[in-house]
Amino acid sequence: MRRLAIVLAGLAAACASHGSNGPDAGVQWRTLSGEAPIVIAHRGASGMRPEHTLAAYDLAITQGADFIEPDLVMTADGVLVCRHDRYLSTTTDIADRPDFADRRSVANTVDGPREDWWVEDFTLGELRTLRARQPFPGRSTEYDGQELIPTFEEVIELVQRRSADLGRTIGIYPETKSPTYFAGIGLDMTEPLIEALEGAGWTGADAPVFIQSFEPEILRTLDARIETPLVQLVYLDPTLQDGAAPRPNIAIEDVVDFVDGLGAQKTLIIDENGAATAFVERAHAHGLIVHAWTFRDDQPPPDGVTIENELARIFAIGVDGVFSDFPATALRARRLASAPR
Ligand code: G3P
Ligand code: CA
Repeated sequence: MRRLAIVLAGLAAACASHGSNGPDAGVQWRTLSGEAPIVIAHRGASGMRPEHTLAAYDLAITQGADFIEPDLVMTADGVLVCRHDRYLSTTTDIADRPDFADRRSVANTVDGPREDWWVEDFTLGELRTLRARQPFPGRSTEYDGQELIPTFEEVIELVQRRSADLGRTIGIYPETKSPTYFAGIGLDMTEPLIEALEGAGWTGADAPVFIQSFEPEILRTLDARIETPLVQLVYLDPTLQDGAAPRPNIAIEDVVDFVDGLGAQKTLIIDENGAATAFVERAHAHGLIVHAWTFRDDQPPPDGVTIENELARIFAIGVDGVFSDFPATALRARRLASAPR
């Protein structure tokens, strides 16, 4: 187990500064630290603004999120920028750009081949001529066409500036997307990521940062280089069967030596019958925190449970944090939650 210097201690202090109605008021939480679970703005307040834009991150901070989550990919000229996918058609206006029409090509993704425009084929300068748009059907398109693709450095600057202005620590939760693929085309993420964190003074165990990845190899590499808290992403992999049931993509025992926590698909924590699994208990027994993804107001559970009740259930189980596209909702649910030991 690594040294999780409980960045949360600092954040708990920040939460306490929200006042006596803050997340710790009169509640005994079942988190590993006993502090309130953190609320992570998933792709920013992405339910209300185009995801991975400074506007989405900024709104999440204004709403009170503890952390904001940039997913990271690399440009052709080696700059870390914030996008969930390597392809650009769903979150930008690139399809409307005749000057880029001949740059469309077929490439592989984890879901198979796809014809699209790919971030690694464009320089930062080219990407900055695009404008972001809302990719989720049913969400507001009011803010489409206004925002740029931000760099990781800009996100750090935003978080540090708003933390200073608000007098509370806002953390970042960067995810390295497809690091092995990028390294294979000469765009290794490791050095630019470490350089950016060094520049921010965030390579210690007390940094208000969690670095996450589905790929354990980059986390193992980072473990040898920096003390910044690390999180392995875990999900039920339908291609890995345990009898008739899907298995997690990775076992806790395989990562416990080099990470501080697990970013878990919520179906690992609450099963299809709405019952709690032993996942959080097992992770905590290994000294690992658990942050669950993803909570969306417009995608409540299929069993008629409201999003507020879904969050109340997950808080009662003892998760250490939640990723939400609607951080204001998760914050409200946290305020309402009681989780007796
Ligand atoms: O990083 C937690 C969660 O965001 C993982 O899923 O696909 O939304 O990045 P994804
Ligand atoms: Ca993510």
